[in-house]
Amino acid sequence: MVSGLVKLWEKSCQIKRQHLLFILTTLGEERVLLSFFSLFLALTFQRTLTTMRKIVISTGGGDAPGLNAVIFAVVNSAARRGWEVYGSRSGYKGLLDPDELVRLTPEDVEGITPIGGTILGSTNKGNPFAMPVENLAGEVNVVDVSDRILKNFNRMGFYCHIAVGGDGSLEIAHRFAEKGMPVIGVPKTIDNDLEATDRTFGFDTAVATATEALDKLHSTAKSHDRVMVVEVMGRESGWIALYSGISGGADVILIPEIPFCYDAICEKISDNELHEKHYSIVVVAEGAKAEDGGVVSRGNGEVGRSEVVLGGIGECVAREIRRRLGKDTRSLVLGHLQRGGSPTTFDRLLALRFGAAAMRLADAGTFDHMVASNPPTMTSVPLADAIRSRKKVDPGSDKVLTAREIGICLGDRQEYVPY
Ligand code: F6P
Repeated sequence: MVSGLVKLWEKSCQIKRQHLLFILTTLGEERVLLSFFSLFLALTFQRTLTTMRKIVISTGGGDAPGLNAVIFAVVNSAARRGWEVYGSRSGYKGLLDPDELVRLTPEDVEGITPIGGTILGSTNKGNPFAMPVENLAGEVNVVDVSDRILKNFNRMGFYCHIAVGGDGSLEIAHRFAEKGMPVIGVPKTIDNDLEATDRTFGFDTAVATATEALDKLHSTAKSHDRVMVVEVMGRESGWIALYSGISGGADVILIPEIPFCYDAICEKISDNELHEKHYSIVVVAEGAKAEDGGVVSRGNGEVGRSEVVLGGIGECVAREIRRRLGKDTRSLVLGHLQRGGSPTTFDRLLALRFGAAAMRLADAGTFDHMVASNPPTMTSVPLADAIRSRKKVDPGSDKVLTAREIGICLGDRQEYVPY
């Protein structure tokens, strides 16, 4: 037996034979057996300790219905693995200030899946690589706090960070991964403009809200023989405008991917008049632009934020229609209504699946990746690939063709054929 033990020790611990024989003869066989047993217990205990992991989750950028469902899935999947979850408030704040870090247990997140927004709060001015910080004199300076965050992350003993966000937040997550933080991204944006995933959660709810608004506008537009111009969100991609416009019976849909001309829009409205339809609904994405114009924004942007705040194209379009046709025209901006409210069943399920898939990546130690929906399965893609380009509406796609087939004008002259 002793020689068997010697062989085993030699093999596993690479301890020299003469050292072992010395130990055995000095201590005696029973004691050695006892040592083996103690070693076995210690290793088992150590194993239990190392599988109890601490992870941190943050939600960044503009909020989207479904964020709480992701948190719910992560917390519950982690608890089943015996892991602890901490939530970082307002993006990375919890990794800067421990008061902004909250322990999340299954009890804490019970019932949050149907609730809009995020229980952790979010910000689109919280880029740790360029964070606006106010000094005692009230001056705001943009500073890089990423090293501090990484140091805190390591000091607190986190195993990984689950970063839920859109293109901006995922880019930040990737930069942290490059600095050595184990990060897993979860795609979120109502704009649905992330290339690497078939869908982002929040989009379905936003489309449902916009479609319902369009349904309601029909009756008032009709009562007053008016043109109603509805501005919806969509910075670089017209997904919300296209989906809601087709489903909500729009006459004209203007999206960033297809520069528009006023002649085509007015031709469609006049054609409606010819066919005894004295009202029209125009849906315009906030990032849509005229053939000879640029995007319409509100000022130069905000401190700590790289992108300009878009808005106002709806009113520009309404003004031009009024000027050209002399028709009663009103505009409205759906704005943040599209980001609010309870997530649809589709978004809840997608968000829960994303959260669970993120935990599987954590389990496998697959970092610097984003979970992605690739029906019918969930996959993952390197964050670098996920942030490379935006997902745009293909002007030749079936949905655009459907719109044209049913008589919707996309704002480009050549394609519209009046009946
Ligand atoms: O990215 C989502 C989005 O909803 C955009 O469509 C929109 O331009 C932006 O957020 C608005 O963000 P904010 O919260 O700063 O108004």
